[in-house]
Amino acid sequence: MSNNTEEQITQNVLDSMAQTPSPRLKQVMSSLISHLHAFIREVELTQEEWALGIQFLTRTGQMCDDKRQEFILLSDITGTTMLVDAINHRSPDGATESTIFGPFYREGAPELPTGATISQDDRGEPVVVTGRVLSTDGTPILDALLDIWETDENGLYEQQDPEQPDMNLRGKFRTDHEGRYCFVGIKPVSYAIPDDGPVGQLLRSLGRHPFRPAHIHLLISARGFAPVTTHLFVKGDSYLDSDAVFGTKDSLIVDFIRHDSEKDAARYHVTAPFYKVAYDFVLKPLDK
Ligand code: BEZ
Ligand code: FE
Repeated sequence: MSNNTEEQITQNVLDSMAQTPSPRLKQVMSSLISHLHAFIREVELTQEEWALGIQFLTRTGQMCDDKRQEFILLSDITGTTMLVDAINHRSPDGATESTIFGPFYREGAPELPTGATISQDDRGEPVVVTGRVLSTDGTPILDALLDIWETDENGLYEQQDPEQPDMNLRGKFRTDHEGRYCFVGIKPVSYAIPDDGPVGQLLRSLGRHPFRPAHIHLLISARGFAPVTTHLFVKGDSYLDSDAVFGTKDSLIVDFIRHDSEKDAARYHVTAPFYKVAYDFVLKPLDK
């Protein structure tokens, strides 16, 4: 244990954790140290690179406060968030796939009647989203809750933009006895994740852009079912193959079909041109 040579140091660190009371903490920390040391050996990390890494992590921490979580953003752009999500939300039984939650959810969005719009500022092109919430066996789920949020047409969530009304483009909707839901939003746009901090600098150093493909966020829950945090992505968006946070899933990419008839639009209390999306969500019963 006293001879901390290049050859022996990894085993010495592992041995130092032998008395860890929690078996899980011991497993996680032992694996972390083994992989960290293997990485350092593989790239032969220089003293300068080590210092740069420390400075980067320090700046990342300094950027964090109650509104900004730069460490989660770092996790997002390295695919870490989505890998953890994928491992913890496997859906082999046809349940709707989950994707990244993101930092822009707000609790307390207004609960709105079926068919209402979540837009309070009349900007953007309206989209009517309809479908059902079903159990994995195909049974409709009554009284499921869809909690929805999206950016305005300028690519900003309402809490990022003093020009937008409080809770703009956020709303909760419930399914009826046939599991049906309907809400009006706006056709989402692609937008940049916050890139004015160390994570943005890292993206630029890697020759990467900060954009996410256009999407609507949904958090869907129902009594007796596992909730799902998901998105609807716009088919044809140019960032689908290079989402800055690796959130895209094929099963969540949908057609936003354009309609130009004013008569059709009037049925949904919107103006033409508008878009329609049809999508059924599937939740997994908790006992399965
Ligand atoms: C979002 O989609 O809102 C988001 C996700 C990860 C990082 C930044 C934004
Ligand atoms: Fe988003």
